[in-house]
Amino acid sequence: MDIIEGLKTRRSVRRFDPTKKIPHADIEKILEAASYAPSAHNYQPWHFVVIENAEKMAALRSVQPWTAFAKEASCVILVCADTEVSFHREKENEKWSYADIDGTLAAYGVLLAAHDLGHGACFCGAAPMPLVIDGLRKMFDLPENIRPVAIIPMGVPVEPSAPVTDRYQTQKVHWEKW
Ligand SMILES: Cc1cc2nc3c(=O)[nH]c(=O)nc-3n(C[C@H](O)[C@H](O)[C@H](O)COP(=O)(O)O)c2cc1C
Repeated sequence: MDIIEGLKTRRSVRRFDPTKKIPHADIEKILEAASYAPSAHNYQPWHFVVIENAEKMAALRSVQPWTAFAKEASCVILVCADTEVSFHREKENEKWSYADIDGTLAAYGVLLAAHDLGHGACFCGAAPMPLVIDGLRKMFDLPENIRPVAIIPMGVPVEPSAPVTDRYQTQKVHWEKW
């Protein structure tokens, strides 16, 4: 699929055929492609937790309520970022990290690669919500330096996504100055 076509036709998919599984070869292909995302200083701080256990996928809603549809997914990719690996500063007067941004770029790669292979996926938020981060840490034994940034249920769509054509608004483009 052409990249521009993929960017424009990807949609969040929340209805999956619970009887169909995404092959592991496809999951690996998706995660390999996502790993080519840009990252600050090219530190590539992402990790992917692949969840296929139906009970665990259903339990996600207790931590992040807007993931209820994950119970019918083929798998969930929990995209995380290592705050010790990501480009960060921790000084008295300066504290920041690119972990969430790097992780989110990898997550977008997961969405686009899944779309290219004809699978459905949806970005569900994690960081920066503290309660969701804590809940996911407990549920999946994530170390303190590992920040979950996206919960991505993935599966075989039950229906094609309706096309969207009205997103580009020229008044949001500011040439040279606001
Ligand atoms: C930071 C972020 C958090 C999101 N969290 C959720 C979520 O918890 N549950 C959900 O169903 N969709 C979630 N979405 C998906 C958005 O609802 C979706 O991207 C938006 O409605 C646009 O639709 P599209 O992805 O089909 O273009 C999230 C998207 C982003 C970027």
